[in-house]
Amino acid sequence: MSAKTDDQVIVSADGPVRILRLNRPDKKNALTDAMYDVLSQSIDSAAADSAVRCVMITGGTAAFTAGADLQDFLRTARGETERFQAVRLLHALANAGKPLVAAVEGVAVGIGTTLLLHCDYAVAADNAHFQMPFVRLGLVPEAASSLLLPCLVGPRRAFEMLVMGRPFGAADARAAGLVNEVVAAGAAEAAALTAAHEIAALPAEAVALSRRLMRDPAAEVVKRMDEELALFRQRLKSDEARAAFEAFFSRKGD
Ligand code: COA
Repeated sequence: MSAKTDDQVIVSADGPVRILRLNRPDKKNALTDAMYDVLSQSIDSAAADSAVRCVMITGGTAAFTAGADLQDFLRTARGETERFQAVRLLHALANAGKPLVAAVEGVAVGIGTTLLLHCDYAVAADNAHFQMPFVRLGLVPEAASSLLLPCLVGPRRAFEMLVMGRPFGAADARAAGLVNEVVAAGAAEAAALTAAHEIAALPAEAVALSRRLMRDPAAEVVKRMDEELALFRQRLKSDEARAAFEAFFSRKGD
C-alpha cells in the first residue's frame, strides 16, 4: 500500500488491519476535503478487499482530530465554495463493510467525537478530550448523532453533550459507551491495534453478518444524516455560524 509521509492521511496495512493515520499535526488533524476523500475511499474500498479484515483510524499521539477544518467552513459561510466532502465520509462510516476501530489521543472535536458512534470498537487515552460544539458554532449535529447519541446516553445527557457542547474526558466517554477502554497517554494506538487484530482473527463471514444485524437499520441512520446535513449546510451560511468561525480565527488577536 503506497504512502507518502507528507500525505494528510497515511494509509498503510498491518497484516489484515488497514490503518488510516491522520497526519496534519500543525492543525490538530483538522479535516480537509482531501482528507475526507482519502478516508471515505479507504473505508469504502476495504469492503470489497478480502485481505482487509478491520480498519483502524488513528491520529497519532498528539491529537485525534479537531474536527472539520473551520477555514473551509468560513469559506462556505462567505459563499466562496459549495464543496462539502464530509458527506462522503459520513456515508462511508454508516455503510462500512468492515469493522471500524478508533484510537483517540488528545482532542476529538466535532466529527472527531461523532465518528466514534459509527466505530465498532474505540480506545481513548486518558488525555483524550471530547467535544461536540456544533450549536456553539451556530450549527446543528451531524453524523446521525442526533439519532444515535440520545439512544446511547439518554436525551438529557445527549442534550448536554450535543446542544450545550460541554467538553468531557476519557472516563466520561467510557461511561457513556462512546469508547470501550481507557489507557495511558501514548498507548491508545497499540491497544486499538491489538483489538483490531483480535477482530481480524474472528471468522470474517460471521463478523460481517453479525455487524449487519447489529447495525440495522443503516438506512435510517443515513436518512437522519442527510436530514442533518441539509440543515447543517444551511446553517454554515448563517450569520451565527460565520460570526463563530471568524471569532475562532481572531482569538489569538490575528
Ligand atoms: N480548523 C482549522 N484549524 C484548526 C482547527 C479547525 N477545526 N482546530 C485547530 N486549528 C488550528 C488552529 O487555528 C491553530 O493554527 P495556527 O497554529 O496556525 O494558529 C492550530 O490548529 C493549533 O490549534 P490551537 O487552537 O492553537 O490548539 P489548542 O491546543 O489551544 O486547542 C482545540 C485545540 C482543538 C481545542 C482548538 O483548536 C479548537 O477548539 N479548535 C476548533 C475545533 C472545532 O470547533 N471544530 C469544528 C467542530 S464542527
